[in-house]
Amino acid sequence: MCGIVGYHGPRETAAVLIEGLKRLEYRGYDSAGISVLAEDGLKTVKRAGKIKVLQEALQDGLQGRCGIGHTRWATHGEVSEANAHPHMDASGEFSVVHNGIIENCEALRERLQLDGVKFQSQTDSEVIVHLIAKLYRESLEQAVRDTLYMLKGTYGIAVMTSREPGKIVGARYGSPLVLGIGDGEILLASDVTALLAYTRQAVYLQDGEMVIIDDTGYKTRDFHDRIVKKQIELIDWELEQIERLGYRHYMEKEIREQPDAVRRALGGRIDREACSAHLGGLELTPQQLRSIERIRVIAAGTSYHAGMVGGYLIEQIAGIPSFTEIASEIRYRNPVVEPNSLYIAVSQSGETADTLSAMRELRRKGAKVLGMCNVVGSTIARESDGGVYLHSGPEIAVASTKAFTSQLSIFYLLALLFARMHHYSIADGQSFIADLQRIPEQISEILQRSEAIRELAGRYAGYGSMLFLGRGLQYPVALEGALKLKEISYIHAEGCSAAEIKHGPIALVGPDVPCVFLAPDDSLREKSISNMMEVKSRHGRVIAVVTEGDREIEAIADDVIPVPRTSGIMYPFLTVVPLQLFSYYCALERGCDVDQPRNLAKSVTVE
Ligand code: G6P
Repeated sequence: MCGIVGYHGPRETAAVLIEGLKRLEYRGYDSAGISVLAEDGLKTVKRAGKIKVLQEALQDGLQGRCGIGHTRWATHGEVSEANAHPHMDASGEFSVVHNGIIENCEALRERLQLDGVKFQSQTDSEVIVHLIAKLYRESLEQAVRDTLYMLKGTYGIAVMTSREPGKIVGARYGSPLVLGIGDGEILLASDVTALLAYTRQAVYLQDGEMVIIDDTGYKTRDFHDRIVKKQIELIDWELEQIERLGYRHYMEKEIREQPDAVRRALGGRIDREACSAHLGGLELTPQQLRSIERIRVIAAGTSYHAGMVGGYLIEQIAGIPSFTEIASEIRYRNPVVEPNSLYIAVSQSGETADTLSAMRELRRKGAKVLGMCNVVGSTIARESDGGVYLHSGPEIAVASTKAFTSQLSIFYLLALLFARMHHYSIADGQSFIADLQRIPEQISEILQRSEAIRELAGRYAGYGSMLFLGRGLQYPVALEGALKLKEISYIHAEGCSAAEIKHGPIALVGPDVPCVFLAPDDSLREKSISNMMEVKSRHGRVIAVVTEGDREIEAIADDVIPVPRTSGIMYPFLTVVPLQLFSYYCALERGCDVDQPRNLAKSVTVE
């Protein structure tokens, strides 16, 4: 989704803005632009398409001592240069970049048009710059504040004016903004990855807060002009974690980082003595944990699939009724918050609008909501009642991989914690921990065999549609496998319960629609074999992900992908990895843009 960068300092502003925008490319965008304060006023350059197109347009150089930049992911209006940000007013004295959505933009636009304002774009954002120009009296800060009172919706904005050279005003309501405090320089961004090349000192703005940056430094205020004291926090990511480090794509790098990511997620959280887990951030006493009668998980996309595995597992081994729901659905169905329920909001970015809004709605109704996020300091992490970080390091590829296995790791720890409080014995706990600790090594084994998966993908990348089938804990893995394939290779894919195909999807089965079965040696393997036979009798091709040495399935399936042996409940960690690699290689084979698939965004900050 859209990204914002601002810079005030001695470096060449345009270069810093471009570098920052490149760091935000991963979020997904379709046009980009910058405004720089030059000797003779504001200079703005914007282009539809990739940042390198913008860079080419800037070849003559754009000198200035402060500036703002933006990557746009189209919501209101097509992808075009006119719709790209920054937006300027008619005099060219004001420039604005905006993330979020202005819901009352039509009413504001009509009113401004009656006053004679001519709009250059179809965006909702453009109203902001015209309002600021209209309301400007003696200070930019005042004009921005007066404008914010008129806006309905969500925004992170950065604004400059040539009337007050060297000043940038930022404001946040529902769309993240963070300040980077460097040595004699200040940055502003929607995402810490844009800051890391310059500083690791960050100040996170909260909703309803503004920042005013000028030659004297920065000051933070609320929308009522009251001083807000902010802490400087250290960003715990290293610059090299957001580099590709020789990998062709971030997605490949992140798939291969999974053994370490799982180790980090588990690190220090296993209590060997109690054969249980300790998760410091939960902020629940053992008594409160024991009194939990049901668990509800809310999430979107890949996080939703991890949440489904988590819900199944907790119910299965801890005996606590657990249910996972898509966040966008829960919000609008007027959810009933039952007593003694624990809600878990799962989000890699911690900024997904659907998950955040659902969490706010639930908390409004008295729910206790834990956050399970990767990005430290993200909105969900801050607003939840407690939580656990994944510690997977930055995830840059749009298609989520290492966050999924890290989320599984945390869910497995939670399930162990609850199970040990109920009916899991010491011996049960011990063998669970032993199996869990073997997972990183077993993922490495699968990664070492990636050539075979590449070869397989080469043979299947030409198909137009595939089904992914699994049962029990493998059902959410099937959903995730299908999501990965469609996200990055654009092959149509549907995930469903292997049992459910006879209620509809089997109508699609035939030589043109290969079926990927997740059939490791767990309690539902036999059932999956029956479903496989149903597909084979209809001349469907079967790719089966199986436990190594499964001769029976090898004889039935057209192709098999073996994974190491573990206990039945641990297989989701191992069966998902070949599916990630399969999608990745299919996408490569089809020449797709793996890290920035069309129309998708990494962090979906609009509803
Ligand atoms: C977007 C991304 C997905 C991600 C989903 C939820 O759709 O493209 O990869 O799974 O958002 O993101 P979250 O940050 O909340 O886990």
